[in-house]
Amino acid sequence: MTVKHLSAAAFAALGFAVAVPATAQADELVLYCSVQEEWCRAMSEAFQRETGINVLMTRRSSGETYAQIAAEAAQPRGDVWWGGTGDPHLQAAQEGLTAEYVSPMLGELQDWAVRQAETSGNRTVGIYAGGLGFGYNSELVTEDPPACWADLLDPRFEDDVQVANPNSSGTSYTMLATMVQLMGEDEAFAYLAQLHDNISQYTQSGSAPIRAAATGETAIGIVFMHDAVAQTVQGAPIVAVAPCEGTGYEVGSMSIIADAPNPDAARTFYDWALTPAAQEIGAANNSFQIPSNLNAATPEAAPRLEDVNLIDYNFALYGSSEERTRLLQRWDAEIGSLAQ
Ligand code: G6P
Repeated sequence: MTVKHLSAAAFAALGFAVAVPATAQADELVLYCSVQEEWCRAMSEAFQRETGINVLMTRRSSGETYAQIAAEAAQPRGDVWWGGTGDPHLQAAQEGLTAEYVSPMLGELQDWAVRQAETSGNRTVGIYAGGLGFGYNSELVTEDPPACWADLLDPRFEDDVQVANPNSSGTSYTMLATMVQLMGEDEAFAYLAQLHDNISQYTQSGSAPIRAAATGETAIGIVFMHDAVAQTVQGAPIVAVAPCEGTGYEVGSMSIIADAPNPDAARTFYDWALTPAAQEIGAANNSFQIPSNLNAATPEAAPRLEDVNLIDYNFALYGSSEERTRLLQRWDAEIGSLAQ
């Protein structure tokens, strides 16, 4: 055991002065959160209330959080990365940025959540799922609404479609990987290049496009269907669409960061976050994913995966370090460069 792995108590027993860094109090948890801010806050508050462990939470998109954890690898500052799409969690697992942990809650989870753990050598686990699609503003698109990916190329939507940048956003990376799996890689990049003519903005966060559609800033936002539904539920004129050609989906994931400053608090959070009660906090905070715990209630408004024409998304491949890095580089060269 290295000095780094001694608990504060063991360290004190050896007669050393215990220097506890500001971000590593024994009763603290540093949480990197990649879902909607509202849900991140509610989770942090509920955990803090139930355990007395003080949560320091930061919300960032999936790709950004992956990059932050990679940048901090020599001196990790975060304990748990909760939420966000599964691919960058798998990449972090492959790169050893996250720690192995087998939760006693695993037996209560949906198959797709357990598969995520198996694929990663138990360095991540599924916490929710949701299908990719888009939403449109029905006050702006009053005739012949788009039903398919192909419809988004229509010149009448020029500068009226938004999607995030796949480097920062897991939602947008899911779209990139989905198109590659649906069409073949060269065809997917040709589609994205054509779609670029209709894109007004590549946002940083995955759900920003549908918030923009809700306020009428854009007509169409490419997002997870549950993010479109969240706007509808809050009264915006947004219609969620499951694209006719078929679509991909995410397994929203959770990982413990390798050499986390508060490993005990990290495991306590991890087990708690897999309980039905913790997973039901989502629906109470405008998040309508399918929860991974089989005993958690699926929100009534949640788009059901069985109602959608889903592809057999290859998480092992598209979450691998090589493939994600390569596809993002190609996106930068062929699509991102068009935006400059
Ligand atoms: C939203 C969705 C989540 C998804 C997340 C990814 O919060 O509700 O289901 O995991 O976006 O965020 P990102 O900004 O990385 O696309």
